[in-house]
Amino acid sequence: MPLNCTVAVIGLGYVGSCIAATLATRGAQVSGIDVDPGLVSDLARGESRSHEPGLRETLAEALAAGRLEVTTDISVAAAADVVVIAVGTPVRDDGSLVDDQLRAACLALAPQMRAGQLVLLKSTVPAGTTRSLVRPLLESGGRTAGVDFSLAFTPERLAEGTALADLATLPIVVGGLDEASTRAAADFWRQALDVAVLPQDCLEAAEIVKLADNWWIDLNIALANELAKFCALYQVDVLDVISAANSIPKGNGSVNILMPSVGVGGSCLTKDPWMVWMSARQHGLDIRTAPAGRHVNDGMPEYTAGIVIDELTAAGRAPETATVAVLGLAFKNDTGDLRATPVRGVVTALAKAGAQVRLYDPLVDGAQAERVFGIRPTPALDEAVRDADCVAVLAFHREFADIDFATLPVARPCLLLDGRAYYPKETIDMLRVQGYRYRGIGR
Ligand SMILES: NC(=O)c1ccc[n+]([C@@H]2O[C@H](COP(=O)([O-])OP(=O)(O)OC[C@H]3O[C@@H](n4cnc5c(N)ncnc54)[C@H](O)[C@@H]3O)[C@@H](O)[C@H]2O)c1
Repeated sequence: MPLNCTVAVIGLGYVGSCIAATLATRGAQVSGIDVDPGLVSDLARGESRSHEPGLRETLAEALAAGRLEVTTDISVAAAADVVVIAVGTPVRDDGSLVDDQLRAACLALAPQMRAGQLVLLKSTVPAGTTRSLVRPLLESGGRTAGVDFSLAFTPERLAEGTALADLATLPIVVGGLDEASTRAAADFWRQALDVAVLPQDCLEAAEIVKLADNWWIDLNIALANELAKFCALYQVDVLDVISAANSIPKGNGSVNILMPSVGVGGSCLTKDPWMVWMSARQHGLDIRTAPAGRHVNDGMPEYTAGIVIDELTAAGRAPETATVAVLGLAFKNDTGDLRATPVRGVVTALAKAGAQVRLYDPLVDGAQAERVFGIRPTPALDEAVRDADCVAVLAFHREFADIDFATLPVARPCLLLDGRAYYPKETIDMLRVQGYRYRGIGR
């Protein structure tokens, strides 16, 4: 398929907007479709709701070149050679898929479909969903998958903060309904993104690859978090242990324990292991590791708040009279994304203990933060930390690396709680000289 093909991207949220803008700058003629008219008009002006590095510039370039149009009108999908579906796929508390967005997108697309199209599902789904849900919904328009159109599942594996670089480099996994679908999908991504393609035998294999990645990541972080708690019992620095433990070869790499932290958030790692668990359960298989990882990681915000409360108490400062300044509200470094942020659990637990909590995050929209935390963030760092008994760095954005702790107007001694900064030992020694007591997760 030539790179100058036409592509429709259905769902222009975080993933869809990155894909639509990228494909347009790679030469495709892209129609981006979303049911949210406010989002569509923002994107039409080149405004992205996420702080993804490079996304605004890529959108601007795609729009200026006339290669990207955004609309709420699904009928434009009729003209596309390739249709990419990237709508949201949240799960309920019991791990079952909330399939409303996927159903609505497929039902709206079905009557627009024409012979020869290639439909690619990007949204993360429980194993079996492309075959048992997406296929029949698309066929409700009268076209038959594998005959009139090709169908493949090609998961999105990009990570927030590095999305555009990931799109340009990560191998793409492709599993088709049949061999022709797999081949068509593989050819499309190879040409469009110039990346390696990993063809799979079937739809389900590709669906499971995506789930396996996030199952592994979440479980590995859970291991790191429990290792951190274990190290804390012996006043051992967990980062030293991880660094040394990771030095032995294993499989085709080495032991690779990830980093402990204040917790796991975002829209993927918090739900995908539950999709695994529920898919398995529906087939009578009880998977135990996926829920174990989730429970451990979900407990980290409370564990982190517990460190703050214990340290303040040990220093003779009753939590009810203490002020805690939280720097970094997002679920990971260098994003403003508050979806399922573990910082919320820390703030809730500290407030419950009676502490006065102030919030500061230059990447987060103030009104949105107020909705999530019930506290309006403080616009200036100095104001946030003034006379604070504890500064808790819970997302370590790049700009926080420039903070001069020596000049911050905190109360001294002040507790510095490191939830995700992983300060090196020299910095910790310097902080002590500057009047801070340091505690990290497992440090
Ligand atoms: N966020 C990530 O980092 C990430 C990474 C990899 C994979 N994924 C997966 O990609 C998918 C999308 O994730 P996201 O973070 O972009 O979600 P999102 O919630 O940001 O975006 C979903 C978009 O789909 C739109 N939408 C809903 N129903 C629609 C319909 N019927 N027609 C057209 N548009 C519709 C919504 O308005 C919204 O803009 C999910 O399955 C997610 O699990 C996300």
